[in-house]
Amino acid sequence: MKRIAILTAGGDTPALNATIAGAVTRANALQIRVFGIIKGFSGLLNPQFPHLELNPLFHSIPELNPCLGGTILGASRTYVDGHDKAALDAVAMRLKALKIDGLICIGGDGTINGMQPLADYLPVVLAPKTIDNDLGLNYPEEANEWIREADEASGKPRYRRVKKNREIELDEIINYATPGYATAVYVAATGIERIRTTAESHRRIAIIEVMGRDSGYIALGSAYGQPDIILLPEYAIDLESITTRVKELYDLQKHVVMVVGEGVVTQDGTLLGDEMKQTDPSGKPILSGASEVIRNALIERLEDSFFTTRRRNESAESAIFTRKLGHTQRGGRPIQFDRFQAMQLGGKAVDLLHSGASNYVATLQWNQAKGFYVDSIAANRLRDQYGGIHPRQMHTSFYNPQHFQPSAIGEKYLMPIFTNAIGGEDMEAVRVNLFHPGNLRQAYQSVNVDVQKRIRYLES
Ligand code: F6P
Repeated sequence: MKRIAILTAGGDTPALNATIAGAVTRANALQIRVFGIIKGFSGLLNPQFPHLELNPLFHSIPELNPCLGGTILGASRTYVDGHDKAALDAVAMRLKALKIDGLICIGGDGTINGMQPLADYLPVVLAPKTIDNDLGLNYPEEANEWIREADEASGKPRYRRVKKNREIELDEIINYATPGYATAVYVAATGIERIRTTAESHRRIAIIEVMGRDSGYIALGSAYGQPDIILLPEYAIDLESITTRVKELYDLQKHVVMVVGEGVVTQDGTLLGDEMKQTDPSGKPILSGASEVIRNALIERLEDSFFTTRRRNESAESAIFTRKLGHTQRGGRPIQFDRFQAMQLGGKAVDLLHSGASNYVATLQWNQAKGFYVDSIAANRLRDQYGGIHPRQMHTSFYNPQHFQPSAIGEKYLMPIFTNAIGGEDMEAVRVNLFHPGNLRQAYQSVNVDVQKRIRYLES
């Protein structure tokens, strides 16, 4: 293996450059040239095939900094259509023109689907990334628990779990944690801490929405910020018991902090964060998140009288506020855990290609005796019997729905990841960089400007 290509697909995470850097470091040692493809699968589909060499003379280019968030290669949510033979042939031809012997895709479950059809043309492996932590299995046979049914209403197939969530040991988890997750939780937990003191001062109820789609891992990890109530997608919400808990907490401490995973559902399975049937002044629909729906429900249930009878001179509307932490969870410098593990996984992906593996996924495993270590799994082991890949949901035993907090095993799950997740240099980086006087005088220098100068194209 002499030349490999690498791309970053799907939504970005803070640890992508670290994964690329890990791959390039390993490739340097093995004397393999690495070519980055620009903007994920859309770069492969582009006839001009924008790419750059990441390790000329087996030295990493200086723009590749594992501490830098985002990806110097750019990312997109475009995927290769496995049924489009002409497009696949064209991609294979472009890779061949660049004499690429193997491809590393850094991505999540969607990326595995995009990568799969390319496995017929050249060796491909996946290095995992996702802040949602939803790539992997809670236990090895979990992928076999899905059945496909016809949904008459939509005419599209619908997937349902037949068995769900048998008891697990933590060392059974396939891909324990994914680079990007720890940094997202770090941002969420610090955001919660900060919102806490202002809610406390103003006697307010704060509803903080965190990312994660259908998986509650970020919401679970946000427990480090000590929210009073955590709601996550794996447990249908019960507004009655939430309201009761909010009242109890408010009476005790005169404020409440609640975390809501963006994918929370109602008892009948409806996604709470779906479009609200409201329009803005121009008539466009207002897209509102789950936190807004919960806020409205609390306003209705508590009413102004709940606050005025407690001598809080405020309406329910002004006492209850929402904040989406949004893309702050996905951006910026990765913390030490993510940097270190991402680099290991990038290196593992190169080793997999070098050893002749194809259609494999590098994984991060954990057990009590060894701690974290990298391993791999055939991508097909993540697929259900129909060939589909489902985002991993948090194992339901990790949460205690009565207390709205992580359960004992949930805490055990979190601790190996987070106890030493932040390095001294992470704090030092804030101290040195944030209030550097130069920041006031100098505009932001985007790495894209320097990378652009290195990009080459295939002749059309
Ligand atoms: O999958 C990662 C993720 O950040 C989710 O947590 C979130 O729902 C989604 O991407 C947001 O995507 P976009 O940046 O395309 O709005």
